[in-house]
Amino acid sequence: MNRRNFIKNTIITVTGVTLAGTVLANTKIFGDNKMKILVITGSPHKKGTSALLADKFIKGAEEKGHRVFRFDSAFEELHPCIACESCKTGDKKCIYKDGMEKLNPELFDADMVVFVTPLYYFGFSSQIKMVIDRFHANNHKIINTNKKAMLLATSAAANDWTMEGLVTNYKNIVRFLGWQDSGMLLATGCPVREVIEKTDFPQKAYELGKNL
Ligand SMILES: Cc1cc2nc3c(=O)[nH]c(=O)nc-3n(C[C@H](O)[C@H](O)[C@H](O)COP(=O)(O)O)c2cc1C
Repeated sequence: MNRRNFIKNTIITVTGVTLAGTVLANTKIFGDNKMKILVITGSPHKKGTSALLADKFIKGAEEKGHRVFRFDSAFEELHPCIACESCKTGDKKCIYKDGMEKLNPELFDADMVVFVTPLYYFGFSSQIKMVIDRFHANNHKIINTNKKAMLLATSAAANDWTMEGLVTNYKNIVRFLGWQDSGMLLATGCPVREVIEKTDFPQKAYELGKNL
């Protein structure tokens, strides 16, 4: 076999295996009750407290056979919604071409959306809130789409009211979108990684993923 034919045959074989693998994987992963899960994180700390919850949740969910797509808001090029309402007129498209173009197909397709955020002034961090506000352009594509939702959050304080504002905001978002709340993990009293590592919150996040 000359060099050109060798390369051609090799590529065909590799492609064949890849495609077969994908089909098998799809059959296995997305049969029955296996889900496509979109995890949206909101912290600028790659090794922070909420990132740990996201890691553990994803580990559990993937072990169970679910497919997870992770979108780290703080590390994407994103613009805040400027309420121009272009998305509601004309060609009905958002004026921004940014990280949302990567997120949106996953958002439309997801069976479950998991919001992971550090508590910032009693609400979502601005990084993840920016993404949620940008849902506005596609409300018509995500409302009443039978999705599940989950909230994983961390905070420094641990008063009984610390998470109240965030929880209300989350519940109203889920209610407005017609999604189904599948649970919340509120890791209060966790200002930094060293503290949360000594709690059972990471294990709880893992179990939330594993028990889906
Ligand atoms: C801008 C900012 C606002 C914060 N607001 C609150 C707050 O309202 N209540 C609270 O308990 N902790 C607050 N914190 C602390 C963080 O929620 C906490 O340190 C969290 O563990 C950080 O998560 P991360 O490591 O995933 O970034 C705030 C931190 C920052 C930077």
